[in-house]
Amino acid sequence: MNIFEKKDLLYGGDYNPEQWLGYDGIWEQDIQLMKKAGVNCVSVGIFSWALIEREEGVFDFSWLDTVIENLYKNGISVILATPSGARPPWLSQKYPEVLRVREDRVKHIYGKRHNHCFTSPVYREKTAIIDEKLSKRYGHHPAVIMWHISNELSGDCHCPRCQERFREWLKAKYDNDIEKLNHAWWGAFWSHHYTEWSQIESPSSIGEIGVHAHVLDWKRFSNDMMIEFYNHEVSAVKKYSDLPVTTNFMEIEEINYHKFEKYVDIVSWDCYPRWHNDKESVYDTAVWTAFHHDLFRSMKQKPFLMMESTPSLVNWNDTNKLKAPGLNILASMQAIAHGSEGVLYFQMRKSRGSFEKFHGALIDHDGSGETRVFGEAAQLGRILKDNAKLKGGSSDSQVAVIYDYENGWAIDELCGLKNDRGYKETCIKHYKALKGSGINVDVIGPGADFSRYKLISAPMLYMVPDSTAKRIREYIAGGGIFVATYLTSYVDENDLCHLGGFPGGLKDVFGIWNEEIDSIYGENAVIANGSEYTVTDFCERIHPDKDTEVIATYKYDFYAGEPAVTRHGYNKGMAYYIGARTGVDYLHRLYGEAMQKAGVLVPDVTLGKGISMTKRGEYTFLMNFSDKAAAAVSNGVNFTLEPYGFKII
Ligand code: GLA
Ligand code: ZN
Repeated sequence: MNIFEKKDLLYGGDYNPEQWLGYDGIWEQDIQLMKKAGVNCVSVGIFSWALIEREEGVFDFSWLDTVIENLYKNGISVILATPSGARPPWLSQKYPEVLRVREDRVKHIYGKRHNHCFTSPVYREKTAIIDEKLSKRYGHHPAVIMWHISNELSGDCHCPRCQERFREWLKAKYDNDIEKLNHAWWGAFWSHHYTEWSQIESPSSIGEIGVHAHVLDWKRFSNDMMIEFYNHEVSAVKKYSDLPVTTNFMEIEEINYHKFEKYVDIVSWDCYPRWHNDKESVYDTAVWTAFHHDLFRSMKQKPFLMMESTPSLVNWNDTNKLKAPGLNILASMQAIAHGSEGVLYFQMRKSRGSFEKFHGALIDHDGSGETRVFGEAAQLGRILKDNAKLKGGSSDSQVAVIYDYENGWAIDELCGLKNDRGYKETCIKHYKALKGSGINVDVIGPGADFSRYKLISAPMLYMVPDSTAKRIREYIAGGGIFVATYLTSYVDENDLCHLGGFPGGLKDVFGIWNEEIDSIYGENAVIANGSEYTVTDFCERIHPDKDTEVIATYKYDFYAGEPAVTRHGYNKGMAYYIGARTGVDYLHRLYGEAMQKAGVLVPDVTLGKGISMTKRGEYTFLMNFSDKAAAAVSNGVNFTLEPYGFKII
């Protein structure tokens, strides 16, 4: 059986039984408690390399055989990991080439995890050997339902071999023509004109970090090396097994998962929101979380898997808050509402020693199953069991927000704007303004199919290659409503500024010319329909064409009275341009109008403070992300939700 054939929602998570070898009775207790909590699936083997291959070439699978067999006998499925996320010490000692070199050219010594060189032939050889053995041994085991390749792949390596691979990568990208690279990297600036490929080094704080296209190319290259390494492991496990594969994605901005998504059979991600932090409300943390669920769901337009989460606290924030009673159940149901096929935790049992011994887990050091966390987890286990009907169920969003990883990299690099750019935060703000209407919202990459949406929001889409400009133009011409903001289309894919005025390649579509952008201290305001709305950080001076409507103007500064927000009909569609960083209040108003024009079906609901609404298939979820009871009216029916309560309608 594979993961797609499972009838129930998955419930369980990372299980590290190798930490308890020699502790009699613990594995039995694990199984007993896991069953009591309703666990039906665990991820095994993620960090098991050193205890499978204690010496090079000497393999002992006996303990893993027992673990998998016991799980199987007890009806618990296994997501089996390849162990490449962490190496045994002997491997680094014998083959130092597997160790990464940092950007400042310092070579790592053995330690930690998730830090091998992606191009190392030795590391590839060693991972292939153990992966193939795992595949041969367990690839057809009835307990095993999927491969979990490595763990949280990320990062880059600046070793001499990776430098060589980078040069090869550049040669391929620039058709072996170094003048093409010089043009893209704007090589005449500061005399950085290259004449030999061998002169090129990866970006470094002791070398060059200010050539934006160079930095972007390095990030793209490193992304490709990570995916190449992942695919290398996939071929190893596929040798004897045709089970689906995944790897756990993260919330981070450094990896372009839109390039990665096609290589996994199901998108999975590790979900660690900062619940109860002191900077935002629980509702805002829920918005952040929902945005990420929708981002990962939208990648394949299919259900995803929440591969990790914590049943209580994490151990790596400055302040690690417990999840308040009820919140774990609510947050888990939120993942289900947004399309997860299950709820998986890190981890089943707390470690006894080392770095993660105080990280939340299903089973605590007391080992009893009597804890608050366990009790709530068991309650959730029952809820999930009763809700298998939710599986599958699509989102059918009519609205999407574009979030483009590489655009974020380019925005981070640019010099000349206020430092606090907050690209992802801005996308989340726009998402929040849309989501507040109770609709489903997709979060898509710039290469997604635009035609399925009635309205697309593209905050701060600074990097717009001609090909994307063309697709935006076609989308709007065909009747789409497109909302863009300040910073739209300043540069192309190589971070070269568009010539002829911004938004490059789209001036006629938006019916504006954006002449300049001001970074502001404090606040300005825009006036729209007689009301005033605060703006912060960025204000552009935009010039509307004759047929462009100005729908908000600036209140202060030398550009007071000038256009701040515009609307322009283009062919069958409409293009909005928001020239300044407005708050959610204004965005909510603007999107309300834009959705009406786009014919988006907005549900007839009034949501009380803290309530979020999402549909999965035919089921509507109302979720109260607040410690106070709250009310909602949906289609004339009143609902009261307990603190951190939820309802599935
Ligand atoms: C990550 C890792 C896990 C664990 C958790 C702790 O997601 O994949 O191994 O370290 O963090 O939060
Ligand atoms: Zn390397």
